Parts: sequence; structure tokens; C-alpha cells
Amino acid sequence: MEIIGQSSAIKRVFKLIEKVAPTESTVLILGESGTGKELIARAIHQKSRRKDGPFIPVNCGAIPEELLESELFGYEKGAFTGANRSKPGRFELANGGTIFLDEIAEMSPKLQVKLLRILQEKTIERLGSERSISVNIRIIAATNRNLEAEVAEGRFREDLYFRLNVIPIQLPPLRERKEDIPLLAEHFLEKFCEREEVPLKRLSEEALKCLLSYSWPGNVRELENLMERLVILTEDEVIRKEDLPEHLCEPSSLSLNFPGTFPPEGLDLQETLKEIEKSLILKALEASGGVKSRAAKLLRLNRTTLIEKMKRLGLC
Ligand SMILES: Nc1ncnc2c1ncn2[C@@H]1O[C@H](COP(=O)(O)OP(=O)(O)O)[C@@H](O)[C@H]1O
Ligand SMILES: [Mg+2]
Repeated sequence: MEIIGQSSAIKRVFKLIEKVAPTESTVLILGESGTGKELIARAIHQKSRRKDGPFIPVNCGAIPEELLESELFGYEKGAFTGANRSKPGRFELANGGTIFLDEIAEMSPKLQVKLLRILQEKTIERLGSERSISVNIRIIAATNRNLEAEVAEGRFREDLYFRLNVIPIQLPPLRERKEDIPLLAEHFLEKFCEREEVPLKRLSEEALKCLLSYSWPGNVRELENLMERLVILTEDEVIRKEDLPEHLCEPSSLSLNFPGTFPPEGLDLQETLKEIEKSLILKALEASGGVKSRAAKLLRLNRTTLIEKMKRLGLC
């Protein structure tokens, strides 16, 4: 599991990983979705003293609250209807290793309190039991939201935020580390060509230019998925601009160097305005930690109008 990149932004992340991995510190990984948060969490575990212990990922946003509680804490037989046998929770399963709490901002207030207790006391009780079980775990949490804003709006406990935010690692979006795009693209092409047992493909210069001027709202995951698709759908060994999906090659406000000079071939006004709209929406979302209602305020739009626009532009 290799982490690819040589931009100064990702190099700073590598340095941080080296420093925090061997410690017992709680780590909070922040960044838009698809930036590599889980990859970084695994790397920290691999480089830690706990590497021979388990790495237990839990996506707090994907599991309904009731289920999340019993998944995390486990339960004793008879704790609730349907609990026909006892079951250890993921905190117990992570004993001696690392638990990765992904999408931590989605945790309910009740579970936030329980998590705070674990951080303080390193003990848990299974549902339906009074017995405290001590657990030796390291916690790595991640979110694509702006947690400070979540705290300010009363959705996330401040005391828990301080406990988790001992060592924050901020992962920059791909559009802010474009130097990494060629490397990542090549890495994924190699990976998928090998998997599919086809001769190695490469990108034409023009195709690469498109990738460099695109804004990558889905970050590395979007790039990875695209490379997989191209390996399967392109017959030639060279992937050309024409093989890329159209939205990738539209003239972008970034490459236009707004309000600079016109490209010699002119530009498509409608498409360019769309690109500008898209990049302003992405900027507003970034500035508001992904909270759509606040991004809408920044753009002086209704929340529903913003969501409609995002759908139309393929942003959600
Ligand atoms: N720097 C990187 N080098 C190689 N692969 C990466 C890198 N960053 C992300 N990926 C890959 O991109 C995908 C999305 O990463 P993931 O860690 O799941 O992102 P997140 O948890 O932030 O949504 C994964 O398949 C991951 O392996
Ligand atoms: Mg993830």
C-alpha cells in the first residue's frame, strides 16, 4: 500500500506520519472525501508499535445510530430483543491495535459522550453489562467536515473535539497539489494494466493536460476510478484526449487565467461560465467545510437552489 506523491503538501504529510506513527497519540485526519484519509490511517498503524495488532475501521456515517452503538461497544446476551448471544464490540476487537473512526462528525451526541469516556478512561462496557473492560487502543479519527464549524454550530462536542484534535493531519485536495496528478495517474495505470494483464498504457501529452486543468471534486478516488475505466475501455496503448470523458476537457476558468487573454482558438462562453460556476461552488463548499447551507449563504443562494445547481453540474 504505497502513498504516492511528491508535492510539498504531501511531503509535509509524510513527515507528520513519520513523527506521529510511533507515538500513542490520537490523530485526527481532515480532508475532502477521496483525498486518502483511510490510506494515511493505515500507514500510521503500519508504522506504529501496534503494527502486529489489529486495524479496525469503522465508518460512523454508514451505520445507523442504534446499530453503531452495539457494533462499537458489543453486547451481552439478552441486552435487547434479538441479542441471542454475547458479542464483543469493535473497540474490544481493536485491543492491542488501532481503531479508525471514519466520518466522526456523523456520530450522534449520545455516542460522542461515550467516545469521550473511552478517550479519558480507556474502558468500555458492553450493552447490557455493568462490567468495565479495559481496552488498549489507539484512536485515529477522520472527517471531511470542518469540525470547528460543527462545534460552533453545536453539532459536535467541544470537549471531544479537543481530545481528538491532539495531532491534526490536513490532507490537501488534489487540485491544490497538481504536481501529483501525473504520478498518481501513472501509478493507477500500472496497477490496473497489471491486474487486467494488458500491456502498459500511457497518457498522451494532451490528455495529461486535461487531467491537470480539471478540478477533481472527487480527488484521488475520482482519478483512480477514471484510470480503471480508461484501462478497460481504451484499446490503444496511448490514451488520448478523445478517450477522456467530455467534462474533463471543457475549457476551465483556471486554464483561462481569468480575466487574461483569450486562447487563440477562442472559447465556448456557456461552457466557460459553467466551469467558473463550478469552481466557485467548490470554493464555497470548501470554505464552509462541506456544509451546504453555509456554502449557499456565501453564494447568496437558497440551499435548494445550490443543490439543484450542484446536481446539474455533476457535483453531487
Ligand atoms: N497519495 C495516494 N497514493 C496512492 N493512492 C491513493 C493516494 N491517496 C488516495 N489514494 C487512493 O484513493 C482512494 C481513496 O482514498 P481513501 O483513503 O479511501 O480516501 P478518503 O478516506 O479520504 O475518502 C483509495 O483507493 C486510495 O488507495
Ligand atoms: Mg474514507
